Amino acid sequence: MSASTILSLTDQIREAASCESVSSGHGHDRLLRLADELKLAIETPTETVLRLIYQPPENAALRTVVDLGIFPLLVSKGQKDGLTATDIALCTGADRSLIVRLMRVMSALSLCTNIEPEKYRPNEKTITMTQPIGQDGVPCIYDLTLPTLSKLPEYFREHNYSNPEDYTTSPMQWAVGQSQFEWLAKNKRHQALFNSYMSSRREGKPIWFDVYPLERLTDGVSFHPEAVFLVDVGGNQGHDLGKFVSEYSPKPGRLILQDLPKIVSTVDRTGIETMGYSFFDPQPVKNARAYYFRAIFHDWSDHICQKILLNTAEAMDPTYSRIIIVDFVLPDTNAGRMQSALDIQMMSLGAGVERSQRQWSELLSSVGLRINGIWNSSPGMESIIEAVPALGAPVNELD
Ligand SMILES: C[S@@+](CC[C@H](N)C(=O)[O-])C[C@H]1O[C@@H](n2cnc3c(N)ncnc32)[C@H](O)[C@@H]1O
Repeated sequence: MSASTILSLTDQIREAASCESVSSGHGHDRLLRLADELKLAIETPTETVLRLIYQPPENAALRTVVDLGIFPLLVSKGQKDGLTATDIALCTGADRSLIVRLMRVMSALSLCTNIEPEKYRPNEKTITMTQPIGQDGVPCIYDLTLPTLSKLPEYFREHNYSNPEDYTTSPMQWAVGQSQFEWLAKNKRHQALFNSYMSSRREGKPIWFDVYPLERLTDGVSFHPEAVFLVDVGGNQGHDLGKFVSEYSPKPGRLILQDLPKIVSTVDRTGIETMGYSFFDPQPVKNARAYYFRAIFHDWSDHICQKILLNTAEAMDPTYSRIIIVDFVLPDTNAGRMQSALDIQMMSLGAGVERSQRQWSELLSSVGLRINGIWNSSPGMESIIEAVPALGAPVNELD
């Protein structure tokens, strides 16, 4: 790439950093995109290929460092003077020479700072690695996905490169004998890691009601004491409803958390009713103001989403109730790396899909629903889709 391209990108980065918010929203996203472009402009094509080839060992080293509890150790004991590889080896029981090799990768990934030969100090990314998003997210997603991802090319060879369409015959089912939710149900430690990761992964990011104009639901809401305001369907441990309760008082109506019975049986949150429920059954809560689905539909292929949507639509008051979906809406060109990779991950775990606006419209209209609006805080974040029954389009049973 030419020096003029590199200089032009650095100018754009300087300008974006000085006039836009660098830590959130569109400005943050633009800076990240420009920084990626700059890196790619500086890298030779060979360097790009080599960087991609050597990603898997980085993830394996990271998973091992989390297993050894090295990040919490660095944060608790190494803030002032750092810790040597010998210190870490003594505390973890691992070989000193193995620690040196693993920590070389962590330093190269900027997950700690290599202050002297074989000596490491925590930085702000080390601290994030000790929080649920790192501490629980890394082992959960690694163990859940890697056995399938490592066999994905073989799966496609054997299946004539057909697009996975069915949860029960997903690549994960083929590779490990179970799809995502059955595997989690059998692996209790990973289910706990998954629940923790779900509640932590959007920490510090805008929540749906910061982006979606909530008055669209609160204006005209029923004041009947039994009226349900929000049903969080597949809401896991109720982290989103918990945030809603702490933000909105008095509540504009009843708040109900639904998930599989095993997931919600231990949830006890003030102001929230819990209900064990499978969204493959008819929705028992009728005429709620809103049925909220965050990160649900991307787990499933279209024909399964249709079942979930029909079960919901049949419980809705067509002129009062709305469906709120929080999921990615992929752009038609230049989708981001994380969303594109997540699409492959969801496809592997249960034939799930990250959808574009056209795919969302087609899915919703196939069950007699239409999109009222889509809200988004930045291209790298999930969007909020509001859907309602399309007038004159009866909701029919699927064959
Ligand atoms: C990707 S997680 C999303 C959780 C939460 N909505 C969030 O965004 O953090 C998917 C959730 O769907 C739940 N789930 C899976 N199958 C379900 C079913 N048949 N009925 C209800 N919930 C289900 C899982 O237990 C899990 O909590």
